[in-house]
Amino acid sequence: MSQPKILVARAVFPEIIALLEQHFEVEANQADATWSKAELADRLKDKDGAFTTGGDRIDAEVLAQCPKLKICANMAVGYNNFDIDAMTAAGVLATNAPDVLTETTADFGFALLMATARRITESEHFLRAGKWNKWSYDMFAGSDIHGATLGILGMGRIGQGIAKRGAHGFGMKVIYHNRSRLDASLEAECKASYVSKEELLGRADHVVLVLPYSPASHHTIGAAELALMKPTATLVNIARGGIVDDAALAAALKDKRIAAAGLDVFEGEPKVHPDLLTVPNVVLTPHIASATMPTRLAMARLAADNLIAYFKGNGPLTPINPAVAAIK
Ligand code: GLV
Repeated sequence: MSQPKILVARAVFPEIIALLEQHFEVEANQADATWSKAELADRLKDKDGAFTTGGDRIDAEVLAQCPKLKICANMAVGYNNFDIDAMTAAGVLATNAPDVLTETTADFGFALLMATARRITESEHFLRAGKWNKWSYDMFAGSDIHGATLGILGMGRIGQGIAKRGAHGFGMKVIYHNRSRLDASLEAECKASYVSKEELLGRADHVVLVLPYSPASHHTIGAAELALMKPTATLVNIARGGIVDDAALAAALKDKRIAAAGLDVFEGEPKVHPDLLTVPNVVLTPHIASATMPTRLAMARLAADNLIAYFKGNGPLTPINPAVAAIK
């Protein structure tokens, strides 16, 4: 019997390609060529499955050209690159890569918060530019993390990881807002109190965004929300581009309406709003919150295992639209 055909849309660990080749006929992209949507669809049209990353858009237009496609396994916990309704309508199963990245991503959220509040990169640029001639009492004075109020918007697994780091490690007072309130035992574990979004924005010294992107969460933080924040506050976005209105944020940073921001994700990335590149009070990183080698390997392995389990008829491990789980 011939093996199912799989497309791996981006370069990944060679050992993952080798694993997939034990089960599938694999078309890989180890040169990491950038494919247009049309090229992705063209390469997918004779495939049974796809190994995708967060930048590979799978929507009705692509699906219409891929009648054999049965499953797309995303090497990311977020899946806003998938049009889930269109995939479900086309009978294509979607899987993501949750859990394996939770602690690594929470570590990074905290690192970005600390770098932002304590002005680490801004001061490093100053030093590297040879501008450090003498000490002064207020040089790069930032804001404290310990004992401050941490506001978390989006209290899934990663949000909870950040809450625990803040509450248990740094004695922070944690407030959160989420679509649904956590049960009391989880709130106690995270030492977190549920508040409205408006209260959170008004009270927090540091706001961290960890909510999933969807049309409903588009521009969750725009000019009106930034206006509710304290002028001394820090905003960190490790969620997705589009959750923050980057133009409004750049204007708020320029006018010091908030103190600083730390951004790992951007609207239209890898492009970055030009005004964010010129304001000093923002720390910018290229979507690396889950980027440690063990975690990225675990994410790739989970995506591969979803494909393998599905085609073995065992059912996928982490389905997003499980109603489609039966083999086409
Ligand atoms: C990264 O952004 C992910 O969704 O895994």
